[in-house]
Amino acid sequence: MCGIVGYIGNKNAQNFLISGLKRLEYRGYDSAGIVTLNAEGEATLLRAKGKILNLEEKLAANKRDDKIGIGHTRWATHGEPSETNAHPHRAGKIYLVHNGIIENYKELKENLKEHDFKSQTDTEVLAALINSFYKDGEYPLANAVVQALKLVKGTYGIAVVSCLSPDEIVVARSGSPLVIGVGHDETLLASDASALLRHTKRAIYLNDGEVALIRKNSVEIKTLNAEPVSAKVEEIETNIAAIQKGGYEHFLLKEIMEQPESLMETLRGRVNAKDGTVRLGGPGLSEEKLRGIKHLVIVGCGTAYHAGLLAGYYIEQFTPEITVETVIASEYRYRNAYIPKDSVALIVSQSGETADTLACLREIKKQGIPTIGIVNAIGSTIAREVDGGTYVHVGPEISVASTKAFTSQAIAMVMFGLTIAQAKGVKSSMLRPYVEEIAKLPEAVRETLDSTHDIVKNVAEKYAEYEHAIYLGRDTAYPTAMEGALKLKEIAYVDANAYAFGELKHGPLALVDDRFFEMALLPEGELYEKAVSNVQEVLARGGHIVAVTNVEDFDLPVESVIKIPAEIRLFAPILMNLVSQLFAYYATVAKGLNVDQPRNLAKSVTVE
Ligand code: F6R
Repeated sequence: MCGIVGYIGNKNAQNFLISGLKRLEYRGYDSAGIVTLNAEGEATLLRAKGKILNLEEKLAANKRDDKIGIGHTRWATHGEPSETNAHPHRAGKIYLVHNGIIENYKELKENLKEHDFKSQTDTEVLAALINSFYKDGEYPLANAVVQALKLVKGTYGIAVVSCLSPDEIVVARSGSPLVIGVGHDETLLASDASALLRHTKRAIYLNDGEVALIRKNSVEIKTLNAEPVSAKVEEIETNIAAIQKGGYEHFLLKEIMEQPESLMETLRGRVNAKDGTVRLGGPGLSEEKLRGIKHLVIVGCGTAYHAGLLAGYYIEQFTPEITVETVIASEYRYRNAYIPKDSVALIVSQSGETADTLACLREIKKQGIPTIGIVNAIGSTIAREVDGGTYVHVGPEISVASTKAFTSQAIAMVMFGLTIAQAKGVKSSMLRPYVEEIAKLPEAVRETLDSTHDIVKNVAEKYAEYEHAIYLGRDTAYPTAMEGALKLKEIAYVDANAYAFGELKHGPLALVDDRFFEMALLPEGELYEKAVSNVQEVLARGGHIVAVTNVEDFDLPVESVIKIPAEIRLFAPILMNLVSQLFAYYATVAKGLNVDQPRNLAKSVTVE
């Protein structure tokens, strides 16, 4: 959410800032801006509403060969998307870019009467506050930043430059990620390591409560209490190919189609189909501890929450004497929930930076409950703060809508459940079918994507103009229906909601009319016939049903049928979700909407 970049070195700063912002545009795309300084400290500030493309147009008429600068792409929190509200914000001689939210900005603003506020943002308040300590260069910039941050409540990742010292950038973080790239005769900065990749693979991940003074050839880090921190330089693990479209028209389609490989990465070295066992090293819990687990709390937001719900159904199927509670992080953090002592919490997050999920992690840790991360982004805050964890290793997800992460998060959590069941001595005849299917899943994912692709495209085009959709499923297909509905609503802007089949008669059936279509997820199994009865009830009321099923002799008179391969039984909902992903993608394309950057959203929600 929002992207920050910065550069100091011998090369053209504007070029780096623009290319870096393009990399980060998926994190926010309401407006963007850059400021660069020449050797004399003269600033060139360029800001534009909307996409980076608009900023580039301004740049064409304002090219500079400056060697230092900072930039920002915004997801609006305070104040509408506009050029005036775009970052960088100026106060006196300083310029500031900021990710996060300054919660006490109104209170701070009261005491900053001498500053002529131009924008409605909390960020400009922080710029003015820093300037009030800087006193136009009377005090060192880094000191002024520290003084100001000591008064701030909220979250921030910031970068500050001053016209009076065009050889330094001051950065700081609390709750919003910042990565410093260490190059040859240059130091770079970004809120996400992917923006640095073309220039360096050596990075320093700033921690909460740290402030860094960045120069061309040095990085000096201190805590807000002026204690020196020795900078640890780490290797960025992502490669360039992983953050490019690789011949696909959209990142979303690329990410959907790469699931056979990304899921394989999740399973690598962790599944032994021959002896029907799984092995996860990361959580670091002893056999005794695993045996003693009676309660699992799974915490996430959006798609990660759905993955947790789905995994919970499976874990309860094969693990005796365990309860699983999957919770929405933004709710859970304010609940006065008692967590029994023999619990373990799974903290699920693709980005590893989601503010509410991170807040839950910290609350749960305070209660002394072991926390296990199910995270994708390596080195992210959640990954670093959990007691143990399992990376899902799906590679960068650039498209705002999460796809490949869902599949791998769900399976990684099921594997964690299997390790508990193994430790508890559950018979291998019970667990083996799950393990064997997990081992086969990457290939089944490939087969499903290949065999359904064209038909899903046709069906999606047929239903793209509906404004309402109802996704239906039960048991493991219910969270899958929830995830399918979320995909369609967030990228195709369809009012899509999910219900458990059994709930239809308790209310939602009243909705069925020609403005709606119904996506019915119908996996073969114990509850199939019951779901079929519910489908009949919808049909009897003139419903427009798209059925997704693995039942070979499926013959209900629904409008459209999408068949998935029959071989996978237990995890058929995972395959059905691929259909939902492709469906949402092609409906969005048919409507001519922005697939990778849906309106009002941004990747990685680092504000509450
Ligand atoms: C939906 C989507 C979001 C995220 C949610 C959590 O497609 O992308 O619902 O799943 O914001 O994000 P992470 O997993 O990064 O914590």
